Amino acid sequence: MTRVAIVTGGTRGIGRAITTAFLRDGVNVAAVYASDRASASALERESAASAGELLTLQADAGDAADIARIVDKTVARWGRVDYLINNAAISLFAFLDEMTEDFLDEMIRVNFKGPVLLTQAVLPHMKRQRFGRVVNASSISGHYADVGQVAYGGTKAAIEMMTKLAAAELGPYGITVNAYAPGIIATDMTRQMIEERGDVQVRQIPMGSFGEPDDVAGLVIFLCSDAGKYITGEIIGVDGGMLRAQNPFRAIDRAST
Ligand SMILES: NC(=O)c1ccc[n+]([C@@H]2O[C@H](COP(=O)([O-])OP(=O)(O)OC[C@H]3O[C@@H](n4cnc5c(N)ncnc54)[C@H](OP(=O)(O)O)[C@@H]3O)[C@@H](O)[C@H]2O)c1
Repeated sequence: MTRVAIVTGGTRGIGRAITTAFLRDGVNVAAVYASDRASASALERESAASAGELLTLQADAGDAADIARIVDKTVARWGRVDYLINNAAISLFAFLDEMTEDFLDEMIRVNFKGPVLLTQAVLPHMKRQRFGRVVNASSISGHYADVGQVAYGGTKAAIEMMTKLAAAELGPYGITVNAYAPGIIATDMTRQMIEERGDVQVRQIPMGSFGEPDDVAGLVIFLCSDAGKYITGEIIGVDGGMLRAQNPFRAIDRAST
């Protein structure tokens, strides 16, 4: 039987690495994107010879009607949904007194409401199968307070709570629910920050470098594999050890001499 995945934000950044890893393993993937058709087309070209089939879908992963369409199209094409990767999110920085109501609504809609609705939408299929893997995207900012991230950090904290609660509700159906919590992974989302403050930020990371999208994809593939079948309700950091201890640069400097 060929497994089927939905990956939101699946044509760029971390989501693209997850899509590519699934396709390499022979998994059929519906990769959802918001508007960047050029990245979706590039992925289609590069994946033409992959073991799994790729369907790119333009859709708003925070919109209920689009979410229904994502699941309908996936099931119409391949008949099932085994893996849901709620990866898409927006990350915008704003201090509390700069934040508008629209800003807050949009962040909650895309980063929290969308993953919850999409999880609901795949449930009838996963329950019927008595099998499913849901993997959500949190962030290090979901559990370590990050100044200027009330909205983003708040939505990621909410995703972490949803992950634990959904794991408890869905375990009896053979469905696991986990989350990855990246530190700083080199993607479009972090490009400006890395350019402006990368030399300072990297000194907070014991592994001594920013992460690559493939570092997250490896975890997702593991969680979806048979080896991950007894892991659920976990928030797993992919962050090079960031924020586990104060002053990691002391060890970084020592190792570099
Ligand atoms: N990069 C990091 O260091 C980092 C750190 C912590 C957490 N994370 C989390 O990891 C996930 C992926 O991050 P990333 O760095 O790969 O992000 P990214 O490079 O900004 O890519 C985001 C992807 O999400 C899609 N997307 C955004 N809003 C959408 C919507 N409403 N509907 C459908 N698709 C939507 C985008 O579509 P288009 O291509 O059409 O624009 C794009 O494919 C996010 O949840 C992020 O919060 C990342």
